[in-house]
Amino acid sequence: MTTQPKQKQGTDLLYSLIAEARTYPDAIILGRGDPDFDTPAHIIAAAREAMIQQHAGYVPPEGLLSLREAIAQRVKAINHIDVDPATEVVVTNGGQEALFLMVLAVLEQGDEIIVPEPNYNTYHDALKFTGAVKVGLTTSYETNFRADPADVRRLITPRTRALLLVSPNNPTAGVISRADLLELVAIAREHDLMIIADDIYDLFVYDDFVHTSVASLPGAKERTLTLNALSKTYAMTGWRLGWVTGPAPLMARVKALKAAISGGTSIITQYAGVAALTGPQEPVQMMADAYRRRRKIVLEALDAMGMRYGVPQGGQFVFADISFTGLGSAEFAQRVLSDQHVLVYPGSAFDRERAQYVRMTFLQPEEKLYEGLERVKIAMKKIMAAS
Ligand SMILES: Cc1ncc(COP(=O)(O)O)c(C=O)c1O
Repeated sequence: MTTQPKQKQGTDLLYSLIAEARTYPDAIILGRGDPDFDTPAHIIAAAREAMIQQHAGYVPPEGLLSLREAIAQRVKAINHIDVDPATEVVVTNGGQEALFLMVLAVLEQGDEIIVPEPNYNTYHDALKFTGAVKVGLTTSYETNFRADPADVRRLITPRTRALLLVSPNNPTAGVISRADLLELVAIAREHDLMIIADDIYDLFVYDDFVHTSVASLPGAKERTLTLNALSKTYAMTGWRLGWVTGPAPLMARVKALKAAISGGTSIITQYAGVAALTGPQEPVQMMADAYRRRRKIVLEALDAMGMRYGVPQGGQFVFADISFTGLGSAEFAQRVLSDQHVLVYPGSAFDRERAQYVRMTFLQPEEKLYEGLERVKIAMKKIMAAS
């Protein structure tokens, strides 16, 4: 009996494409989510100073008080959420651990969580560990991937326990409007649901779109856990610093989970985090301005190729429809990579049902973006000519 090699999916598929891209010296990465900017120098200086000062011991699982205070100030000033640094903030190993802790704190075996799809793939991975059931709400580029609250309402069952709201979203780059959030909060209150909110891209919003943190809305805070992280905002993906904020009783559970899973986050990273949040914010503005310019370049190139997409309202990427090529997204990404050494992420890696999309990020300097997009165009022409 012959066995077919198992097709790679989800995170495995992404890792195998990344591994192949690494073998091409001229590869251009239009898929991955690492900012191409350097971590600002004052943050690096703070980490160096923390090492020189011999900050080498264990820290409490919830994090250094000075960092929790800086987070509480940031969350108040930018997200308009009041949190008590003593009981309502837990520092985490990046957004990834934060999302895992939130999912574990809220959901149990058999609970249902409504997830607008497509969505950030590692939520799916985290959900698998809880035995909770993901109830997907399909969204599409025609409506800029809006999750209509009326559709959310239709998916509620007696087992529904939570809503997942990632805004700006990865990979769709959709931003949930304040009006929709108000309605979603009303639904959550009516059905006594928890909200898992992800604000990691909150400072990257385009055109006239406005980011609203759901926990800032009346009646939401007591049922919402919110994550954020320094990874994207301060170009610190490898430093691993994130946090969860939420109501004290639930945060006690987040803290207990954090203590059991990994204990306190690296003390050096936490000192760097204090510098990031309390120091000059110009680097963040500079990066946001660069993403705005790059977004324009990417969208103009996609328009010229005749690709359709959800208009990126925030975040650092665009989710574009490639169904007109006749290929599924995994095969499209593989062909573009093998033929032109450009890495785009297949939509099917985010969600098996999203095989008509690819994600491209704005995380390359302008000249590389132009070059990468030109190569995508060449690969696409070849694909179309062969079909
Ligand atoms: C929506 C979203 N949440 C959480 C994370 C995880 O963040 P981190 O890189 O800090 O672990 C990411 C990373 O890409 C993301 O896109």
